[in-house]
Amino acid sequence: MKPIQLFVPTFRVDECLAEVRECLEKGWTGLGYKTTAFEQAWKDYTGLPHAHFLNSATSGLHLAVRLLKERYGWSDGDEIISTPLTFVSSNHAILYERLTPVFADVDEYLCLDPASVAERITPRTRAVIFVGLGGNAGQLEAIVQLCRERGLKLILDAAHMSGTRLRGRHVGTEADVTVFSFHAVKNLPTADSGMICFPDAESDAAARHWTWLGIDKDTFSRTHSDSTYKWYYGVEHVGFKYHGNSIMAGIGMVSLRYLEADNAFRRQLADWYDAGLSGAPGIERVAVAPGCESARHLYQVLVDRRDEVMLGLNQAQIYPGVHYRDNTMYAMYAGQPACPRARRASDRVISLPMHLQLDRDDVERVCGTLRTVVAEVCQ
Ligand SMILES: Cc1ncc(COP(=O)(O)O)c(C=O)c1O
Repeated sequence: MKPIQLFVPTFRVDECLAEVRECLEKGWTGLGYKTTAFEQAWKDYTGLPHAHFLNSATSGLHLAVRLLKERYGWSDGDEIISTPLTFVSSNHAILYERLTPVFADVDEYLCLDPASVAERITPRTRAVIFVGLGGNAGQLEAIVQLCRERGLKLILDAAHMSGTRLRGRHVGTEADVTVFSFHAVKNLPTADSGMICFPDAESDAAARHWTWLGIDKDTFSRTHSDSTYKWYYGVEHVGFKYHGNSIMAGIGMVSLRYLEADNAFRRQLADWYDAGLSGAPGIERVAVAPGCESARHLYQVLVDRRDEVMLGLNQAQIYPGVHYRDNTMYAMYAGQPACPRARRASDRVISLPMHLQLDRDDVERVCGTLRTVVAEVCQ
């Protein structure tokens, strides 16, 4: 029996190699050249005004918190409300900057619930990190509204949202900063990279200094425009080495050409799953929020006795995933206020196989096996 994996990255190998070859032949693999071209291509595709290419979304989330903290003068220990149901990158970004993560509970979309966020706001709350889990926009619009009313900044962790549209528009204009992941298993695969998008040119320019060690060549060239000493530059802050490189950008440009078609196929897979699981006893499907055209990074269901169900699927050579374990189960996030819905989802959630090498027969096999295993385990 053919194994069915959760994720299988698909690269258009010849086109990617042609891009990489160009970099190698030109002798330019780093910042500039294809990174600039890819940033432009991403802006053209999404309609977002600014985009800065990074080595990962993890770097981008850290940078987002760093820049907001710097710009608005937040103090150590100030709070950011986040979700316990995410990859740890979202929450590590808060701890990197010595701020305090405060978890709020999730809703039926497994995204932050605005009512729970509102309850967790204190005088020290400065921002919210919203994660579009699996490509779902959840109640993002209500969160935007809440942040505006309460004077909070909003970071959108759009790691799963390359190609997600909300009311017909690509996500990324809602928040003060939006971060996409182009990790190999994501909808727009490279080996490892990401994009940070700000609504304003000033923040975009500041981010570019921070992602190249704080080196400020522009300031130098402005203040020494008649200088012949072009090898000098200013260093304005202790920045990071977070920018992306031309090899990743070249691969990203190829993947971007296919993103629309790939996401359409993911939505087709989701429709097949919906049809195959509709009415199945003991299997709850996580819906996409109204108004959202999800990139469908994930297709998630909730079942009782999840771990036994997973083992049953493994026996049939089906290898799904779990997104995510409640982060309070990790030592550095213990001691948070209770988020019962997130905890229950963490115990029950399964991400079914979702990638471009699946076909309808595979989806039907997963659905049939899942129905059987759930009936056996939960009878
Ligand atoms: C929700 C979420 N945020 C952030 C990240 C980090 O992305 P990257 O691997 O590009 O650093 C991931 C990656 O899995 C993720 O799933």
